[in-house]
Amino acid sequence: MSDSNPGAGALDIVALDGPGGVGKSSVAREVAARLGWLYIDTGAMYRAVTLAATEQGLSLNDEPALAQLARTLQIELRPHPGGDPTIWLDGRDVSLAIRTNQISVATALVADTPTVRHILVAHQRRLGEQGRVVMDGRDITTVVFPQARWKFYLDASLDERVQRRAEQLMAKGLWVNSEELAKQITERDRRDRIRPVGPLRIAPGATVIDTTSLSFETVVQTLLAQVQAELSLPAAV
Ligand code: DC
Repeated sequence: MSDSNPGAGALDIVALDGPGGVGKSSVAREVAARLGWLYIDTGAMYRAVTLAATEQGLSLNDEPALAQLARTLQIELRPHPGGDPTIWLDGRDVSLAIRTNQISVATALVADTPTVRHILVAHQRRLGEQGRVVMDGRDITTVVFPQARWKFYLDASLDERVQRRAEQLMAKGLWVNSEELAKQITERDRRDRIRPVGPLRIAPGATVIDTTSLSFETVVQTLLAQVQAELSLPAAV
């Protein structure tokens, strides 16, 4: 499939973008579970490529080597009822290994690599093209599925995002230093917004939700209300 494919037309896809730590993944996973649809965490794919690259000792500036790696890796997202999907890299469960601080920092570099993005975008389109999926990331509403039937941009203040990300990491038993986390999130935001290919942007037609003072349940209900209201209507052509 070519990278110029504008997306999946009127397929039933909920596309979610927003900055790191906003809680997109938890919201997307819950919305998918309640709809009975598939949840696809695209950040996990960038993280998996990065993990493999670091394990193989590749330079994160070596674009041809990173692209070759991204082309050959088998990345699988296996649904896990009641929890995060597990992430498998060439048959190995790397769900926890891709969430370390070191991998988070390195992934921001790998995500800047245009050919890696090209390969992962094509993979994401293949996974989503059958519809009935909820997909989250940074470029889902703008590049991967700009014609998704539902597009959302979730935002929150930096303080709130640091807090949410810290809670997520601690729940996984990973070490957290809030000050360091705030610096990293700020730097990743900057990179996400200025990257030449697939930068974080609000897509035309996306519903923007500032979740700073909203509960998780309210955000989930807001998304579900939009999806369910339109699910009963014929898809726009
Ligand atoms: O959402 P996350 O923190 O797991 O994402 C990990 C990294 O991958 C982060 O630096 C942003 C980047 N990313 C991206 O560039 N495009 C996506 N569609 C998803 C994530």
